[in-house]
Amino acid sequence: MSNVVQKRIEELVEVIREHDYKYYVLAQPEISDYEYDMLIKELEKLEEEYPEYITSDSPTQRVGKDLTKEFKPVYHQVLMLSLANTYSEQELFDFDKRVRDSLPKDEQVEYVVEVKIDGVSVSLHYQNCRMITAATRGDGMVGEDITNNIRTIKSIPIRLNQKLIEQYDLSDIEIRGEIYIETEPFKNLNAEREEKGEKTFANPRNFTAGTVKLQDPRIVAKRPLNVFTYYLITPNNHLKTHFENLQILEKLGFRVNKEYKLCQNIAEVLEHCRRLEEKRASLAYEIDGAVIKVNSLRQQRMLGTIAKSPRWAVAFKFKARQATTKLEKITWQVGRTGTLTPVAELKPVSLSGSTISRATLHNIEEIRRKDIRQGDTVIIEKGGDVIPKVVSVVLSERPSDSKETQIPQYCPVCNSSLFRPENEVAIYCENQKCPAQVKGRISHFASRGAMDIEGLGEALIDLFVDMGFLHSYADIYQLKEHRLELIGIERLGEKSIDNLLSSIEKSKDQPFYRVLFALGIRYVGSGAARKLADNFLSIDNLIKANEQEIESVYEIGPSISKSLVKFFSDESNLDLIERLKQSGIKFQSESTSVRSNNITNKTFVLTGTLENMTREEATEKILNAGGKVTSSVSKKTDFVVAGENAGSKLTKAQQLGIMIITEIEFTELLNNA
Ligand code: IVH
Repeated sequence: MSNVVQKRIEELVEVIREHDYKYYVLAQPEISDYEYDMLIKELEKLEEEYPEYITSDSPTQRVGKDLTKEFKPVYHQVLMLSLANTYSEQELFDFDKRVRDSLPKDEQVEYVVEVKIDGVSVSLHYQNCRMITAATRGDGMVGEDITNNIRTIKSIPIRLNQKLIEQYDLSDIEIRGEIYIETEPFKNLNAEREEKGEKTFANPRNFTAGTVKLQDPRIVAKRPLNVFTYYLITPNNHLKTHFENLQILEKLGFRVNKEYKLCQNIAEVLEHCRRLEEKRASLAYEIDGAVIKVNSLRQQRMLGTIAKSPRWAVAFKFKARQATTKLEKITWQVGRTGTLTPVAELKPVSLSGSTISRATLHNIEEIRRKDIRQGDTVIIEKGGDVIPKVVSVVLSERPSDSKETQIPQYCPVCNSSLFRPENEVAIYCENQKCPAQVKGRISHFASRGAMDIEGLGEALIDLFVDMGFLHSYADIYQLKEHRLELIGIERLGEKSIDNLLSSIEKSKDQPFYRVLFALGIRYVGSGAARKLADNFLSIDNLIKANEQEIESVYEIGPSISKSLVKFFSDESNLDLIERLKQSGIKFQSESTSVRSNNITNKTFVLTGTLENMTREEATEKILNAGGKVTSSVSKKTDFVVAGENAGSKLTKAQQLGIMIITEIEFTELLNNA
């Protein structure tokens, strides 16, 4: 009996996989949704009764129940490169010339042109037909393990056809692709979020990036993410061309974007790029350019890689999408450091999947240069970054009574005087107590990468500052003394206040480096805060340090050191720190054990094959001990770990006089850490 059940389960797994492929990859379903659901139900029922026959790659097992607490590092077997960009025909011709000049004279060069999907790149690792990891790009060398989330995407196979894998000799492969969401579902989901008062996403790419990093795969499974794969990597060099690889990917059941074309020369390439640009508006997903790749894999290997991009491929970026709308008003926003930033309040207009009603105008110089005025009809665009900008003014539509934009004379929030430091274009509100600055500083303090106080969002901060409960971020920890008054505020209620107060208490556990970042010292971003905390170990040491001592920390420059010294020379800041200390906030780094080793803050390069651990494991160990791993040797490298058959990195280390250690020495170092 059980044998029969096992067979039926296997059969169902196979049949459902086939239907998933037809539905999600080919978009050609062969059965109705009802019939499909019946198959799933039958499988679920059998698996429930006979859990011993559940396999991890059963379609019922795509969505895990466990939360991902932390995304583990994944060492990419082959670096995840980015592409150099070209913006004009000429640059494309230059690329072609560079390619041909770098290859032997009589070589023909073919190219494959594809669309450049505007999503989030992913690397899928398959061993013996099974997907073993899915990772983000990270820094190109080490990404994050997002397997549990990627498994929920039904168009990504979690088991491959064994016959084909054997036929093409692909038992260990990495497949690179782009995760994305189509524009229409993105708009709908965003609209739903807005209705519910939830935070909306700026564009489909951000939505995707946020989704693949969610902790709960069940939520990921509900979001309609999809994939286009575009790169097949094998450890042995037995495949011939990229064009054939794309076809192999299709055969293996991966989604490959249909718009790819094999071109015989750069003129054909350009023609296809133009065609794709024309098609752009009618596609269901966002693309921001075309990608041109040398077709022959042998030629690709000859061309190699420089810096972080391959020499055999390039992106041809399309012009940013633009829209025309009316600039209704220019307002000035005051940031937490007092900077006034002009903002264009626009008549809402739809662009690249989102509705735009505001655009940054950067600063007054920018306004002058483009002569942007209230009432103008303006052309806006969304470039690589999220925030839209005003490109130019349609002068022919300018109202006859329009006036040149003036710098405000007083702070629009607190009416204090403004100042403009020499050599700076920025204008500042000079009143440190300006409510906008106070709110900005508190909001930064409570934000995610800082103290991470859940529930203390901008709306509440506005309210508490305006009602006089908060004058600075140090007051946050006194809010509990006002519990009854807070509960009395309309709309808030007991439960939400208690939740807020408990997340405020919880924030006291944040480590020192987060606290240092939360203080909002100019130029001290989260990375710098971490380095400073690791080096100085306590705020008292940092307060005592002079500029020179601060600058001796790796990657900390004069603007940071000056800003720190200035911040700590202000009595009111020292008072704030004292009050936070009294409230139990951590101003000291915690464990000293990690710090006293020889790995913390040291930069490692791994080369050659290690005997007792994979590179991935070595990288993880170094990262865990507080060190860094980079891919190339430079003066900044502290140790090169040389394994078997170490190559050019070893030579470079010798030339630069970098400390070279064996695997045994490296293990010793780890053991002492
Ligand atoms: S090929 C070595 N092809 O664009 C080749 N990338 O900066 C590496 N992308 O990180 C990438 N569509 O996330 C390639 N058809 C395509 C692509 C594509 C989008 C993304 C990818 C990559 C970035 C390049």
